[in-house]
Amino acid sequence: MRSQTLKLLYKISFKTKDNNPYNMLLFLLIIMSFSRAANSKSLLLLRRGASLSVEGDDFITSPDNSFTCGFYGMGSNAYWFAIWFTNSKDKTVVWIANRDMPVNSQGSRVSIRGDGTMVLTDVDGRIKWQTNTTSIDIAAAELLNTGNLVLKNPQGDILWQSFDVPTDTLLPSQILTKDKRLTSSSRKGSFESGYFNLYFGSDNVLSLIYDSPDTSSLYWPNPDFDVYTSGRTNYNGSRLAVLDDTGVIQSSDHFQASASDKGFGIKRRLTIDPDGNLRIYSLINSTGLWMTTWQAISQPCQVHGVCGTNGICVYALTPKCICTPGYEMNDPSDWNAGCKPTFNKTLLNSQVKFLEVSQTDYFGSDLYYKPNFTLEACRELCRSDSLCKGFTYRTWGNGHCYVKSDLFNGFMSPDFPGSVYIKLPRSVQLSKPSIFHGSSNMCESHEAEILVGSPSMYEIARRTVRWGYIYLFCLALGAIELLFIVLGWWFLFTKHGVPASVEAGYRMISNHFRRFNYAELKKATNNFKEELGRGGSGIVYKGVLADDRVVAVKRLGDVFQGQDEFWAEMTTIGKINHINLVRMYGFCSEGRHRLLVYEYVDNMSLDKHLFYVNFLGWKQRFAVALGTAKGLAYLHHECLEWVIHCDVKPENILLDIEFQPKIADFGLAKMSQRDSPGSEITRIRGTKGYMAPEWALNHPLTAKVDVYGYGVVVLEMIKGVKLSNWVVDDAEDQEIPLKNLRRQVKETGQCGNSSWVESIVDPRLKGKFSRIQAETLIQIGLACVEEDRSKRPTMASVVQTLMECEDETEI
Ligand SMILES: *[C@@H]1O[C@H](CO)[C@@H](O)[C@H](O)[C@H]1NC(C)=O
Ligand SMILES: *[C@@H]1O[C@H](CO)[C@@H](O)[C@H](O)[C@H]1NC(C)=O
Ligand SMILES: *[C@@H]1O[C@H](CO)[C@@H](O)[C@H](O)[C@H]1NC(C)=O
Ligand SMILES: *[C@@H]1O[C@H](CO)[C@@H](O)[C@H](O)[C@H]1NC(C)=O
Repeated sequence: MRSQTLKLLYKISFKTKDNNPYNMLLFLLIIMSFSRAANSKSLLLLRRGASLSVEGDDFITSPDNSFTCGFYGMGSNAYWFAIWFTNSKDKTVVWIANRDMPVNSQGSRVSIRGDGTMVLTDVDGRIKWQTNTTSIDIAAAELLNTGNLVLKNPQGDILWQSFDVPTDTLLPSQILTKDKRLTSSSRKGSFESGYFNLYFGSDNVLSLIYDSPDTSSLYWPNPDFDVYTSGRTNYNGSRLAVLDDTGVIQSSDHFQASASDKGFGIKRRLTIDPDGNLRIYSLINSTGLWMTTWQAISQPCQVHGVCGTNGICVYALTPKCICTPGYEMNDPSDWNAGCKPTFNKTLLNSQVKFLEVSQTDYFGSDLYYKPNFTLEACRELCRSDSLCKGFTYRTWGNGHCYVKSDLFNGFMSPDFPGSVYIKLPRSVQLSKPSIFHGSSNMCESHEAEILVGSPSMYEIARRTVRWGYIYLFCLALGAIELLFIVLGWWFLFTKHGVPASVEAGYRMISNHFRRFNYAELKKATNNFKEELGRGGSGIVYKGVLADDRVVAVKRLGDVFQGQDEFWAEMTTIGKINHINLVRMYGFCSEGRHRLLVYEYVDNMSLDKHLFYVNFLGWKQRFAVALGTAKGLAYLHHECLEWVIHCDVKPENILLDIEFQPKIADFGLAKMSQRDSPGSEITRIRGTKGYMAPEWALNHPLTAKVDVYGYGVVVLEMIKGVKLSNWVVDDAEDQEIPLKNLRRQVKETGQCGNSSWVESIVDPRLKGKFSRIQAETLIQIGLACVEEDRSKRPTMASVVQTLMECEDETEI
């Protein structure tokens, strides 16, 4: 800093040789300010009776200069007495004395009084903060190499230390004890206390809690599971947690985790961020920037309260907050403030209606839980209770009804098997939240409307999905959820107060999803004997499980990611369940083995039925087109892009005995190595002939690449010929046959003349097809392969269009 000032001074003084009086004045000013800066001193000790002031620009530094303690300014006139990393680029603050009470730039000082207290006073002399030391033999304040500010007596005993009053950060060797907590800042770029806390609960478990004036809610360890399931114990009452010098965090409840760069010699900190996540950061020497090397929560929506009251956290490519339908943001710039009703609350006591939002739930706040309840009965229960704001209905068995007194901790996730029904006055006019209006504009623009609670939450998501458009659901389920898989099934759920056995049964039935071991799969496939097929991502074998289920086992190639990410993604993808998607039964991850276990689909893939001797009749072709569109629309879920397939082609559309299509191989795009360059992805995923033009242009990939692939498949189904065989002379550019077809349709398809349809449809059908359906499919196919992706329809709108002519019987 100082040397920069000197250089600047030198430059300017050099320029003043032109004797311009204005410049001379400037020069004098600079000299004056420099002389003030030169006053600034860096101290190793602040002795009794001495003080630091903002104007004095004095600091206490640690002997190795890693930490600095002094006044930290932000904004125009707000200063905090703080400790920060000297060498991090943004001077990261690790401790603040007066976080909620900044002082003025003039006249504020920190001094050690004669009575031994260290006191921070504002310009008017008012005490803004003080140590509660009463020992009069305090000699000096000193900043240790660990970042600990201590008050010592002449003998060197520590009588007070900043490590005992943490802010939002724990430094290596600093101990978090009983009755102490780390409290997040309310938002990035502010020191004000927020609502997220790390502390030891009364059950002796190290926990994260959302704790606002209105409500509090524990979210880590995962409240769905009991303490032991989460790998903790509550019998050790010493309540100690510490991050050591090698990046390992350990606590007395048996919690342990390590930074990914575990080892000595790296500067780290453990911080609870404004987004409610707890992270270990490591300082990169060369850049002075921080790298996240561990985090407690891998799925941002698992943090409770992240979208405030009446908000819903949406699992999407980039997680985001929305308001519950019928509610609007209290403060458009701050999700912590939550949402408020747009209607007069007293109207809820008269005539009401319910709006369904699918795959959504609010954690906790249950007025009642009723198993074996019909949807109608649940609705009545909520209607008749004035405290009820809505209810969650889980579709399993005879149905489960959860009546909600508050709409808090809302989340929307592909693996939640149920819907929430919001209670609204009948007079309120609304449909679903605007995010679900599936217009293509909406889908195109959603990357721009980033609304999530705090910037850092967004950044994290962004970083993890820095290939964003390929990695599908941002971060997958939390570490605890992983444990769930590792440990198998258990019976001690507490969520919603459901009797344990009921909830466990629910998991069993709804999932059928588990982790297999390698030996088991080796046996099931008879040592990988019968090969069903091979593709870019691996070879598929037929197998029979011990319970006689016939399965297809896919052995993934070498390029796949680490164990943890793999598990996390599997848990989310594995729970995706749709009739037009091949069901995943489980996976295996052992050493370098990565295998996926799918349901076995009987009747071969679509290409075998189209391009070879067998061929499908019209009815089946239409059913395949519609089913495939439904499967893809589910994966893309209303523009949220839960999963982008990236390899839609006939080989990946399997047919069951009734010719129902089932899409295979979804969810693989994001499993490729995270750090590999763009070309790698192209190599792994995507098949020539079905790849949208934006692949080649290296544009970010959106769900529209699947729409393109689908369009090619539809056109191939109509012609009964592979696109690559449409034209022989120029095989290099797949766009040419498509352009020709488009021209043909344009030129001949006018004046109500429909003979053009005959000229395109597969002659093997001998005219046995529905003209209307064929025309619709051709139009859809062509719209889907538009070069400009914003002109392509969404899969949801394709489904809608096709359903409108589903019942055409004219053949
Ligand atoms: C000092 O004691 C007061 C009152 O007990 C308390 O509010 C304050 O937080 C304490 N300050 C420190 C630095 O411990
Ligand atoms: C409780 O935890 C502390 C800190 O981890 C440890 O030193 C102590 O031995 C533990 N006590 C028991 C009874 O396990
Ligand atoms: C970073 O710098 C510190 C102190 O200068 C040094 O001890 C350490 O080895 C460096 N770490 C790396 C990874 O370069
Ligand atoms: C809501 O409606 C009630 C009864 O119609 C009325 O008394 C009250 O003033 C209304 N409140 C607001 C905020 O409009």
